[in-house]
Amino acid sequence: MLPQPLLRGKRGLSPFIVVTKRLYGTNLVDILGPRRALVHKNTGEPRTVLYGASNTQQVHLRPGEVAIKFLLSPINPANLNTVEGTYPSKPILVPGFDEKNGDVFIGGNEGVAEVVKVAPNEQTDTAMLKEGDWVVMRKAQSGTWTNWRVMNASEVLRVPRKPVGSKVTEVFAATMMVNGLTALGLVSGIEPGSHLLQNGANSGVGQAVIQVAKNLNVKTINFVRDREDFSDVEKHLKELGATHIFPYSKLLDRAFKKEFAALRKGSPTKHAFNGIGGATATAMGALLDQDGHLFSYGGMSKEPLKIPVGLQIFRGLTCHGYWHSRVWSSLSQDTQAEWVNRLTSWKENGEFQDPKHEIITLKGDDSAVGDQMREVLDRLQKGMVGSKLLLKWE
Ligand SMILES: NC(=O)c1ccc[n+]([C@@H]2O[C@H](COP(=O)([O-])OP(=O)(O)OC[C@H]3O[C@@H](n4cnc5c(N)ncnc54)[C@H](OP(=O)(O)O)[C@@H]3O)[C@@H](O)[C@H]2O)c1
Repeated sequence: MLPQPLLRGKRGLSPFIVVTKRLYGTNLVDILGPRRALVHKNTGEPRTVLYGASNTQQVHLRPGEVAIKFLLSPINPANLNTVEGTYPSKPILVPGFDEKNGDVFIGGNEGVAEVVKVAPNEQTDTAMLKEGDWVVMRKAQSGTWTNWRVMNASEVLRVPRKPVGSKVTEVFAATMMVNGLTALGLVSGIEPGSHLLQNGANSGVGQAVIQVAKNLNVKTINFVRDREDFSDVEKHLKELGATHIFPYSKLLDRAFKKEFAALRKGSPTKHAFNGIGGATATAMGALLDQDGHLFSYGGMSKEPLKIPVGLQIFRGLTCHGYWHSRVWSSLSQDTQAEWVNRLTSWKENGEFQDPKHEIITLKGDDSAVGDQMREVLDRLQKGMVGSKLLLKWE
C-alpha cells in the first residue's frame, strides 16, 4: 500500500490523473532511437575516463520539457578541464544513464540542437518553442556530447534565425554561447577607433574577438604562435577583419616597440586580451598605453602571468580576469537574449564568419565512438590543430 500523499499526488489528484499530467506523448526512444553520449563516471585524464555509452530506457516528456536533437557540439578546452575535474563549474550527474555503470556525467557544455517535441506548459517558456527550432544551452554544463536529450524549456534559448534563407549556420550557433559571447563581453565598451591587442588570436575566442571588434570599429593587433603555416593563419585572420598579425617571436623582440608605435598611429591602445598566459601576456601589457587594462580569460600555455611591478606602479596597468559564465549568469534573461540577437544579426547580415572548424562524425557502437574520441584527444594533446573540433552523431 502506497503512503496516502503519494496515492493522492501533490494536489490531492488520483494516481491516474497524476500519471497523465506528468507524461506527454509517445516514448521518445521509439522516435529518436537510444540515447547515446560520451560520458565519464569519474573525473580524471580525459583519454582514460571518457567513453561511449547508450541508454534504451523509455523517455516521455513532462509538461514544460522539450526533446532536442543535437546538430553539433564543440570540444572546448574548458570541457576537457571539466572532465579532468580542474574546472570551477562542475558537471551535472545524469542518474542511471549508463545501463552498465549507472550514474555518469555527459561531456560538453555548449552546442546547437533542434527541437523535436515540445510538451506544452502555460507557466514555462514552451510557448516560445516549436518543433524545428534551433536552440542553444542557457545553462552551463548541460552535457552536450550526446545525440538527443530532454531539457526544461527554460534551460534552452531559441536561436533567432530568418525562417527562409538564414545565414546562421550550425557551426556559428554551436560556438556562439562560449567563444562568440566571450568575445562580445570582452570587446563591448572599447572606444571605437582604438586598437586592442590579443594573443591566441587564431583560437575560437580570438577569431570571434577579431570579428566583434571589426563590427564595433575597433582595430586588432593579433599575435599567434610561430608556425610553418603562419601565412595561411595570417590570410584567414585578415579575411575575418584582423588589422595586423604577428608571431610571438616578434612580440617578444624588444625592437618591436618601435614598429608597434608606427602601426597604431597614435590611436588609443588600452586593452589587451590574454588567453595564453606567460611571456606573451607580459609583453602585451608592456605595449599598452598609460593606465591600460590586461584581461586574462584563458591560460592555454599553462604558464603563469608575470607582471613586472613597474608596469603596475609607473604605467598604471590593471590586470583583470574575465569569466564568461559569471558574467552571463549575472545578466537578466532579456539582456542575455539581446547579446545573442546582436551576434546572430551580424551573422544574418554576413558580418560574422564561422570559426575555422572540423566536424568529427561519431560512427559505430559505443566502443567505436570511445576510440574515435581518444584519437581526437590525442590530436588536441599534440597541439596546433588549427580548427575548432565539433562532434556530430551519425
Ligand atoms: N574566461 C572565459 O570566460 C573563457 C571563455 C572561452 C574560452 N576560454 C578559454 O580561452 C582559451 C581558448 O579557448 P578557445 O575555445 O578559443 O580555444 P581553441 O579554439 O581550442 O584554441 C586554442 C588556442 O590555444 C592555443 N594553444 C594551445 N596550446 C597552446 C600552448 N601550449 N601554448 C600556447 N598556445 C597554445 C592554440 O594555438 P595553436 O594554434 O598555436 O595551437 C589556439 O590559439 C582556453 O583556455 C579556454 O578555456 C575562457
